[in-house]
Amino acid sequence: PIVHWFPGHMAKATRMIQEYIKKVDVVIELLDARIPRSSANPVIIELINQKPHIILLNKVDLADPAATKEWTEFLASKGITVLAIDSKSGKGNKALIRAVEQLSKPIIERWLNKGIRSRSIRTIILGIPNVGKSTLINSLAGSAATRTANKAGHTRGQQWVKIGKNMELLDTPGVLWPKLEDQRAAARLAMTGAISDDVYDLENVMKQLLGHLKDNTPEILVERYKLKPEEMENLDDILENIGRRRGCLVSGGIVDLDKARRIVLADYRNAKLGNITLDTVDEEPYYVEE
Ligand code: G4P
Repeated sequence: PIVHWFPGHMAKATRMIQEYIKKVDVVIELLDARIPRSSANPVIIELINQKPHIILLNKVDLADPAATKEWTEFLASKGITVLAIDSKSGKGNKALIRAVEQLSKPIIERWLNKGIRSRSIRTIILGIPNVGKSTLINSLAGSAATRTANKAGHTRGQQWVKIGKNMELLDTPGVLWPKLEDQRAAARLAMTGAISDDVYDLENVMKQLLGHLKDNTPEILVERYKLKPEEMENLDDILENIGRRRGCLVSGGIVDLDKARRIVLADYRNAKLGNITLDTVDEEPYYVEE
């Protein structure tokens, strides 16, 4: 497998998320805009249990704008509330608050009809590691005037942060586990930095990333690493020549291929190779080989 790791705490994580979800009215799920399918948790829909749900395509500054538009339209066509954001800049915060307000209208109406006194709408941010949950919480909370006091019944240290007029956000995100059984998703999670660098097979992951770059944006490889057409025959050539250009040499003029791989990987993650979305809307589903 590409990833040599499996979280042993899935059952515990499930229980925690279910506890969190009970306390909130609207669930906000963060995905990586470069890999909206691969960064989704495999069982999120079951965990959410029919609560109103917003999907945020985060890190949109690193994704391909045309692909983001396709993903947004695709998810919206399934009736999902979806917004593309860059949580580092905080630009999407207002739209997010508006979307939560919109989704809460029927809930508040139900309260009114039942004669229940209206309270703030509560939300939580869920997502796999590194997708930007803390960044978004900090950005939302930074603009919030007050943090409500710790109320009884909540885990110590957890607080509701008041956001907007009528909304409270749990200041601890719900951490979901990534989709590692799907090897294509696992490789893309590794490429984007969603899984820690010491648990995946760098050679295998980079073969796939270089393959993607060679097939889709060869001109960017040429430009960035000053490759000549004859140096791009196959993936081994490409990697070796990138290593040579970047001086990744060990004794005897041999290229340190791992060093070259890490250079390309860092460049991809920092969008130095352009804004590249890896998951496409119309891709064939991945099947596990028997
Ligand atoms: P998490 O809580 O979901 O685990 O993720 P966290 O907020 O810690 O974010 C993980 C990394 O992703 C951070 O980078 C963060 O800055 C970056 N990030 C979050 N949202 C965005 C976004 O919309 N666009 C971009 N480009 N990056 C985003 P880091 O390298 O770990 O830290 P730093 O270099 O930003 O300090």
